[in-house]
Amino acid sequence: MRILFTGGSGKAGKHVISYLLGQDHQIMNVDLVPLGDPRVPDLIADITDSGQMFNAMTSYAGFEELELGNGVPMFDAVVHFAAVPRILINPDNETFRVNTMGTYNVIEAAVKLGIEKIVIASSETTYGICFSDGLTDPNSLPLEEDYDIDPMDSYGLSKVVNEKTARTFQRRSGYDIYALRIGNVVEPHEYETLFPHYFEHPEVRRRSAFNYMDARDLGQIVDLCLQKNGLGFQVFNAANDHNGACIPSKELAEQYFPGVPFTRELEGHEALFSNKKVRDVLGFREQHNWRQYVRAPA
Ligand SMILES: NC(=O)c1ccc[n+]([C@@H]2O[C@H](COP(=O)([O-])OP(=O)(O)OC[C@H]3O[C@@H](n4cnc5c(N)ncnc54)[C@H](O)[C@@H]3O)[C@@H](O)[C@H]2O)c1
Repeated sequence: MRILFTGGSGKAGKHVISYLLGQDHQIMNVDLVPLGDPRVPDLIADITDSGQMFNAMTSYAGFEELELGNGVPMFDAVVHFAAVPRILINPDNETFRVNTMGTYNVIEAAVKLGIEKIVIASSETTYGICFSDGLTDPNSLPLEEDYDIDPMDSYGLSKVVNEKTARTFQRRSGYDIYALRIGNVVEPHEYETLFPHYFEHPEVRRRSAFNYMDARDLGQIVDLCLQKNGLGFQVFNAANDHNGACIPSKELAEQYFPGVPFTRELEGHEALFSNKKVRDVLGFREQHNWRQYVRAPA
């Protein structure tokens, strides 16, 4: 597929793009800063500018496309990752503005130009635990897509709004727009640098409900979204199968979320931030469990 990818220069995007190139997709990266990968043309553009998004989506993706002499080809899909990726980088109102207006502009341009597959990055933070004031309990566990998402912060709120924006444009167009509630993204080198600390201090992972999302496995999830047609508007949690902790799920919940009711039984180390839907509906099979890269303490 010929894909316009926003935010591909970032932490998650660069690994997802690598995975998609490995599946023979053609990518153009739209970002404020270049990715700098010779396989991927960069278009420097701002998602908060609607005109730039319409223009980017009707652009050649590299000089080779001039040679065809058939005018500008259509993009088959848009993958939208560009965002302010958490609170406390910009003032809250700026985080909200960039993320909500940016996502509106990207989805509107894609839909009005007839691009029938759109995948957007939502977030685990929509569940309201991550950036809460003080420690908050979820209403129930495991965290699944039918949860009444209720964040207390501008970033989480921006992602809730983006899911609504996606749903609105899906209803208008009938196209497929899938939102990924991405868990805490882990790059390959980070297993070694971060996980030993997590094992010593599991409490630091409570705000993520102990989830992790291998950046390469996220690539597989995005590719599965691109391949699967006809689902309309969908939300998927995007995370790995197990908790990023050594303690089995039941004990982990008893220790860190005491009294929170379970909507179903969890097996062994099955993640409290559940990826069941993406496994059942899209056929996701993780390739990068943390145990392949870091030893659990004895
Ligand atoms: N990293 C995580 O753990 C995580 C977890 C959940 C969701 N997400 C979401 O996944 C996506 C990617 O996250 P990331 O960690 O790679 O973030 P990142 O900050 O590393 O990458 C985001 C990219 O977006 C670009 N960008 C920002 N504002 C822009 C604008 N106005 N116009 C064009 N480009 C702009 C940045 O230059 C950057 O390259 C984001 O939507 C983020 O909210 C990330």
